[in-house]
Amino acid sequence: MISRDTIEEIRNRLDIVDVISDFVSLKKSGQNYKALSPFSNEKTPSFFVVPAKGIFKDFSSGKGGDAITFVMEHEKLSYAEALRYLAKRYGIEIKEDRQSAESEAIQSEREGLYILMNFAKDYYRKQLTGSEEGMSVGLSYFRERGFHDRTIDKFELGYALDGWENFSNEAIAKGYNRELLEKTGLVVKKEDGSTYDRFRGRVIFPVHNITGKVIAFGARMLGKEKNQPKYINSPETDIYHKSDVLYGLYQGKNAIRQQEVCYLVEGYTDVISLHQADVQNVVASSGTALTENQIKLIRRFTENITVLFDGDAAGIKAALRGIDMILRGGLNVRVILFPDGEDPDSYSRKVGTTEFQKFLKEHTQDFVSFKAGLYAKEAASDPIKKAESIREIVTSIAQIPDPVKRSVYIQETSAQLKISEAVLLSELNKILIQERKKTEKEKFRDQDEPPFPVEPIQEQALVKLDAQGMVERQERETIRLLLNFANKSVEDNALTDFFSRELDDVSFSHPVYKLIYEEFKKGIRAGTVPDSHYFLQQGNEAVKQAVTDLITPRYDTSKHWSDKYKIFFPKEEEMVNELALSNVLRLKFRVVQKMMEDNLVKVKQAETGGTWEELEAALVAQTGLKEAEQELAKMLGIVIAR
Ligand code: CTP
Ligand code: MN
Repeated sequence: MISRDTIEEIRNRLDIVDVISDFVSLKKSGQNYKALSPFSNEKTPSFFVVPAKGIFKDFSSGKGGDAITFVMEHEKLSYAEALRYLAKRYGIEIKEDRQSAESEAIQSEREGLYILMNFAKDYYRKQLTGSEEGMSVGLSYFRERGFHDRTIDKFELGYALDGWENFSNEAIAKGYNRELLEKTGLVVKKEDGSTYDRFRGRVIFPVHNITGKVIAFGARMLGKEKNQPKYINSPETDIYHKSDVLYGLYQGKNAIRQQEVCYLVEGYTDVISLHQADVQNVVASSGTALTENQIKLIRRFTENITVLFDGDAAGIKAALRGIDMILRGGLNVRVILFPDGEDPDSYSRKVGTTEFQKFLKEHTQDFVSFKAGLYAKEAASDPIKKAESIREIVTSIAQIPDPVKRSVYIQETSAQLKISEAVLLSELNKILIQERKKTEKEKFRDQDEPPFPVEPIQEQALVKLDAQGMVERQERETIRLLLNFANKSVEDNALTDFFSRELDDVSFSHPVYKLIYEEFKKGIRAGTVPDSHYFLQQGNEAVKQAVTDLITPRYDTSKHWSDKYKIFFPKEEEMVNELALSNVLRLKFRVVQKMMEDNLVKVKQAETGGTWEELEAALVAQTGLKEAEQELAKMLGIVIAR
């Protein structure tokens, strides 16, 4: 029970911008701050902090509240745990009303695990510098590897004595129970019920969570022993989920934010050596490919990641695969390749701080260009490998959610590989269509066919057309269907009735299409639906021109696609139903996107000049539109790329 006075003091002292900045990279925006939501995987910032009111609001997840709520939500802490965290952050002494620290430990099991892990960490540290064996074996090992004392302190490195029960005995003597010892994974239970220490005769690397609490250990063997694993690691526990943790993030998060890039290495020793070379914006994946959650974790601090590769040619191509995942997360990926036989740890120690930093700066390459360069060599010497190379590179490009970035990469790769953009684009489309089919198949597993014909993605059109252009394209399609198939039935209605009902709340924006559409509406009400002859006789020049364009059959395009991509398109009149349905959805989809674009202008204005209430209203509107957009996109089977 934390006393009222303490709570009061915490509330008075905290600064919401400070508190949130420890977890999220905030950018100033007028009176307020904004950032990418730490609660969802968004690509445009909708997370706001309003210092004047001491609140935050996250429009993508709907979460909001004061600094304490934020810490609770973000760190998944209870109210009391959040207060303790903030008290520590501001150096405020906690006065308790009743309960002792021990009963607290019993009260919350997680808290208990944290406390024991912290005790273990302190114990291993003490053994490293305070015991005969620790100093002669552990400390001298670290010294040999060139670790300074302040680095050993910073990472809280330790040593586990060589024996079966050294740690257990100490912990039990201090009052920790056996059950808790097992739950932390610090001791292992045998079949006969007896237990032994998991870590023995090894140096200890504690793994911290983002707030600095120890949640796991990695224990490295000292020499090059024969039949032992190099590392023994903590098992998964209630407080340790390997796939959600990055080694070094706690020690490096502020540097990552400041430098606006996160270096990714493989191992504990790489992280530590980089810190010694004064490069602190680094995390390790512990030898495996990054998980989705780890990527999200990095994205809270920066959108830029640079992957450091060992100079081992055989391993590189395999490692490149894992990077597609990072691209899919919307991060900008760069790479650095070390000289043959060197890893970040060995190389930094070999050349020293200044040279090493220079090396990083000079050898950073864009990932896609790097990959293209790697395959370019092979492709040049072996024409059969050329196709494979193109597929490899374009597969990576296809992961990038931003279509503008995709098209830039297509251009660059085209120049680098001396392959025409058209070839790369068609390969890209093939992959995008395959992936879209895959997701549609998953969605409609019970049905034989996807409900809408798969439309090829026209990269150039995507880049060039603005929201208004997209709206007009769908308006045009509505008119085309009306002109060509007015008497076909859709959902058991005449096509004209279907449109006039479904598009009741949509007003056309293109002047010519608007004119034509209004004529249709009038005709439907009067019971005489106009046809193309009517417009060709009665319409003005612009109307005549548009109608002529729209009644000209367009079989050539679908033939083109079916030849090129082996997609079978049935005859148009056989699919009027699908075409009309998807057109209605697409038109609404594009109209909503146009409204979002317009509303975004209001958001920008409110951000710089407006009150919080105005900003809030604009953002609420944006959220509503975003939801509508997503709903429509879902119905259309489109993945919204932004
Ligand atoms: N790893 C592991 N278990 C192993 C080997 C490796 O958990 N048996 C993980 C560790 O997190 C390690 C990382 O994979 O840090 C990278 O492996 P490696 O390069 O072999 O280890 P380093 O920590 O770099 O150790 P060293 O430099 O001493 O070889
Ligand atoms: Mn290594």
